[in-house]
Amino acid sequence: MIPRNRVLDLLRTINSAACQCPAHGYRGNIQVSNVTPLKDYAFEIKCSTVRYGLGVTREVGLDLVNLGAKNVCVMTDPNLVSLNPVKAVLNSLTKNGINYKVYDKVRVEPTDSSFKDATRFVKEGQFDSFVAVGGGSVMDTCKAANLYYCDPDADFLDYVNAPVGKGKPVDVTLKPMIAIPTTSGTGSETTGAAIFDFEDIHTKTGISHAALRPLLAIIDPLHTLSLPEKVSNYAGFDIFCHALESFTAIPYTERGPAPSNPALRPAYQGSNPISDVWARFCLHTLQKYFTRAVYNADDIEARSYMHLAATMAGVGIGNAGVHLCHGLAYPIAGNVKSFVPKDYGKDPIIPHGLSVVMTAPAVFRYTASSDPDKHLEAAGLLGAEVTGKKKADAGEILSDTILKYMDTMKIENGLSSLGYTSEDIPKLVKGALPQQRLLKMSPLQQSEEDLSKMLEDSLTIF
Ligand SMILES: NC(=O)c1ccc[n+]([C@@H]2O[C@H](COP(=O)([O-])OP(=O)(O)OC[C@H]3O[C@@H](n4cnc5c(N)ncnc54)[C@H](O)[C@@H]3O)[C@@H](O)[C@H]2O)c1
Ligand SMILES: [Fe+2]
Repeated sequence: MIPRNRVLDLLRTINSAACQCPAHGYRGNIQVSNVTPLKDYAFEIKCSTVRYGLGVTREVGLDLVNLGAKNVCVMTDPNLVSLNPVKAVLNSLTKNGINYKVYDKVRVEPTDSSFKDATRFVKEGQFDSFVAVGGGSVMDTCKAANLYYCDPDADFLDYVNAPVGKGKPVDVTLKPMIAIPTTSGTGSETTGAAIFDFEDIHTKTGISHAALRPLLAIIDPLHTLSLPEKVSNYAGFDIFCHALESFTAIPYTERGPAPSNPALRPAYQGSNPISDVWARFCLHTLQKYFTRAVYNADDIEARSYMHLAATMAGVGIGNAGVHLCHGLAYPIAGNVKSFVPKDYGKDPIIPHGLSVVMTAPAVFRYTASSDPDKHLEAAGLLGAEVTGKKKADAGEILSDTILKYMDTMKIENGLSSLGYTSEDIPKLVKGALPQQRLLKMSPLQQSEEDLSKMLEDSLTIF
């Protein structure tokens, strides 16, 4: 008798060979996988309501009227508070008679202390709704402050992702939050994640639950016109890695057992036919507009597309997840030494997009064997010539394509330019290991030696 696994393999092969549409051509085939009890058979897409348009920020005051808001907390950072995006929001609130207070002390690349500072402000203000105007740092701080305001008895670590914290599911009702991104990068406006640097252990971690997701994301490309070159550049590489990582993440049919209750299906479910659509759009958009957007501050077409791509990649990562570049980036950012990037203020920080792209050439060289066709497709969408190329070369081809973008954007030459040496690698690996939520989304499982090798290969990249 033919073994059951063999029958399933054959069914998958026949089915995917017969139809190459995004659904049926999917590895881990959606037609037959639900008979495999140890693997999930379903995925779901959750997302904030997204409203996109040039100048659409003018509607936010009416949104708050519609919500019945009486006392609004507007969150931003000390730099943005005097710039046009915040002015546009406050004008709309004033015009519509909304009572508000501004918290403008958000830390760029927030920490547990800066999350707690924002929470104190919110507790004193007794607000009934939130508007976050800024990049990922502002939106994430606002999500966390909303959470701890609505559950005042919670210990900070209760909601922080395990194993660093207790990873408690959010069962309190949060106040409505409207997110207005001003960078084109994180996609935080549609995700349930709030990322921070946990100072005690020098690595980033986060709080992650669907309840944190903003009610409405207002995507207004006008805000991107004031983005400095380096912020546009590094944040663009965040989109770049979100798209590549969600596209190549372990397929949802290979992730693990189906949950006993659908409410327990994790936020990060693995790549799937719907998030792949977002990722393909983003990779193609990056090919057309990334360089133009970075080097031409007034190119409204390029900056508009990048702003839309950031949100779309956010929907992709919010459901499919990210993997090794992000898992390795958290200790890279958390152990910063003295690197002070231009356009980000005076403090030493490694901006998120820079920390994720540093290891991308090594990561995709490593993961390519899991699905060479998809890695080649990604390289093609980014502009590489892939017709007739061998599957065995997929990793090198995608890696070379990424390096070309990094070169065009004058990205620092590897981790050594950020102050790291070989001696730091064990510490960076140790910092990556708690990021199991991300590492297990890799299409190939990895040992500590594999992680060390990826970091070693990223010390000097050109
Ligand atoms: N929650 C999520 O799903 C998610 C996903 C990815 C990254 N993140 C997190 O987001 C943070 C990074 O956010 P970011 O890359 O959006 O940058 P950011 O919010 O840290 O801002 C970077 C700098 O750009 C300035 N800036 C922002 N918008 C501007 C504008 N329109 N004009 C002029 N200056 C502007 C800010 O004042 C700041 O100095 C990191 O902490 C990262 O870990 C979160
Ligand atoms: Fe990111």
